Amino acid sequence: MCKLEDSNEKIEVKEGNWVTRMKFLGEVRVGNTKFFTASHAKLKLWILRAITTLLLWTCIIQLVALGEVWGPNLLKSWPSCSNPPDARTEANVSFPSRKVQLPPKRVYKNNGYLLVSCNGGLNQMRAAICDMVAIARHLNVTLIVPELDKTSFWADPSNFQDIFDVDHFISSLRDEVRILKELPPGLKRKVELGMFYELPPISWSNISYYHQQILPLLKRHKVVRLNRTDARLANNDLPFEIQKLRCRVNFHSLRFTARIEEMGRKLVRILRQNGPFLVLHLRYEMDMLSFSGCTRGCSNEEVDELTRMRHANPWWKEKAIDSELKRREGLCPLTPEEAALVLTALGIDHNVQIYIAAGEIYSQERRLRPLAAAFRNLVIKEKLLEPSELQFFQNHSSQMAALDYLISLESDIFVPTYDGNMAKVVEGHRRHLGFKKTILLDRKVLVDLIDQYENGSLSWDEFSSTIKEVHANRTGCPTSRVVISAKPKVEDYFYSNPQECL
Ligand SMILES: *[C@@H]1O[C@H](CO)[C@@H](O)[C@H](O)[C@H]1NC(C)=O
Ligand SMILES: *[C@@H]1O[C@H](CO)[C@@H](O)[C@H](O)[C@H]1NC(C)=O
Ligand SMILES: *[C@@H]1O[C@H](CO)[C@@H](O)[C@H](O)[C@H]1NC(C)=O
Ligand SMILES: *[C@@H]1O[C@H](CO)[C@@H](O)[C@H](O)[C@H]1NC(C)=O
Ligand SMILES: *[C@@H]1O[C@H](CO)[C@@H](O)[C@H](O)[C@H]1NC(C)=O
Ligand SMILES: *[C@@H]1O[C@H](CO)[C@@H](O)[C@H](O)[C@H]1NC(C)=O
Ligand SMILES: *[C@@H]1O[C@H](CO)[C@@H](O)[C@H](O)[C@H]1NC(C)=O
Repeated sequence: MCKLEDSNEKIEVKEGNWVTRMKFLGEVRVGNTKFFTASHAKLKLWILRAITTLLLWTCIIQLVALGEVWGPNLLKSWPSCSNPPDARTEANVSFPSRKVQLPPKRVYKNNGYLLVSCNGGLNQMRAAICDMVAIARHLNVTLIVPELDKTSFWADPSNFQDIFDVDHFISSLRDEVRILKELPPGLKRKVELGMFYELPPISWSNISYYHQQILPLLKRHKVVRLNRTDARLANNDLPFEIQKLRCRVNFHSLRFTARIEEMGRKLVRILRQNGPFLVLHLRYEMDMLSFSGCTRGCSNEEVDELTRMRHANPWWKEKAIDSELKRREGLCPLTPEEAALVLTALGIDHNVQIYIAAGEIYSQERRLRPLAAAFRNLVIKEKLLEPSELQFFQNHSSQMAALDYLISLESDIFVPTYDGNMAKVVEGHRRHLGFKKTILLDRKVLVDLIDQYENGSLSWDEFSSTIKEVHANRTGCPTSRVVISAKPKVEDYFYSNPQECL
């Protein structure tokens, strides 16, 4: 019997069952055959064949059982397997994918099981998932499909498999790392009893940290849970294979579910029917304003509301914020009014469709008015879809964000008004898709120009030509990431320009 490096009791019992059951089945059938063929010498050859066949089958079944240990999700739909309950209807979905040529599985000595609990919005989690795969790969551990954040501002109850094609995720990476949907039963019980080790890894770490600090924990405790995942891996100075793997996960293994992909395609089709479109990632949502303390244009009541929310959030460390000062430093998202001015100054056609990729804009009705006046083909999701089509997504903000992600990738021009996670990850993805145009606004310069234009010290023509000039080279073209070793937060983010993979 094959010895498995990471075998645990439950798996062994299961294999034992398989063996016993197959032997039992074999004996019964051989017995029957004997009974029928006692007087027929001619059929003895046939019996021999039958026995050989059965033996072969026993071997195959045992190999399948072995496969279950190494990659249950691929072989789960094997017709002769007794599937665990969670196989359900997935057989139908994963069956055709088995016809696709899959890479051979990577064989390695398993050093333990890695649980990860992602934090943040969809795109922060997306980047984190890529990092975690790379980490698991380099520590030779088994990764359990990541848990998504359900308690962030976005409060989306979706699990990984509600947003990403989980079977594709697992199978497309099988030549790098073993990924399971859940822990093997024995370990799962232990984790339920609290027998595992949990910690937030240090931000922006290099891979040596994971080898020296996390790997020993994995070996000792068998199961380690990383309970924060944002920016846990450095941008630079990592082995080339790690950077390549981060890209591979991001661009090839993280595919949205068929339902999201279909709806995304539909939205793009509707937009395309009316010509080219620009996606404005107008990060003017309540969480952003509360977190950043940027309240320009808000009423006193709104400022109070945003401030209260910030003080109530334990993760938002900065509490007392001078909104105007922050804005002058270029640290605020552009307001919808500022965005309207900037797009006009950049020479964006007033008739072009502008799709707003965002959740609900704060005080949407009032704040979007100037933008809608300047760009009459301003499009929000509610204009493109029937309420019934949208209803499901509205209650699942991460799935809504996934739609925005797909539309943003497809757009002719992408303009983010803040350099948050979506802005950065989409920027990098568009570079990967052939350096599609992304206008990277220099907000520090912009707010100064806007103030000068608004107080009359700059004419419209001067304002517009300066803005065009400043952004002439800020369009997502090939360039190298800015590296500032001591300040990973301010250097260029890996996912915004994964130059190693372009
Ligand atoms: C399986 O797929 C077939 C064809 O795509 C479909 O007609 C059938 O309803 C599916 N069955 C389940 C259980 O999903
Ligand atoms: C991971 O597995 C590979 C191949 O078996 C081996 O060369 C490498 O040393 C292992 N690394 C760790 C950290 O276990
Ligand atoms: C992560 O785990 C550590 C150690 O158990 C704990 O102190 C910390 O509060 C946890 N953080 C989160 C976000 O759950
Ligand atoms: C990794 O980081 C540690 C601590 O930050 C540092 O001492 C070490 O030199 C780094 N290793 C590499 C290979 O960059
Ligand atoms: C969405 O959530 C609202 C309340 O937040 C609820 O009334 C509505 O029924 C939900 N719709 C769907 C499709 O789940
Ligand atoms: C206009 O605003 C700019 C930028 O804030 C400032 O430097 C300048 O002094 C202002 N000019 C007038 C006339 O108020
Ligand atoms: C833009 O890039 C070109 C070519 O690299 C350079 O000649 C030009 O000076 C740059 N313009 C600005 C405004 O940085």
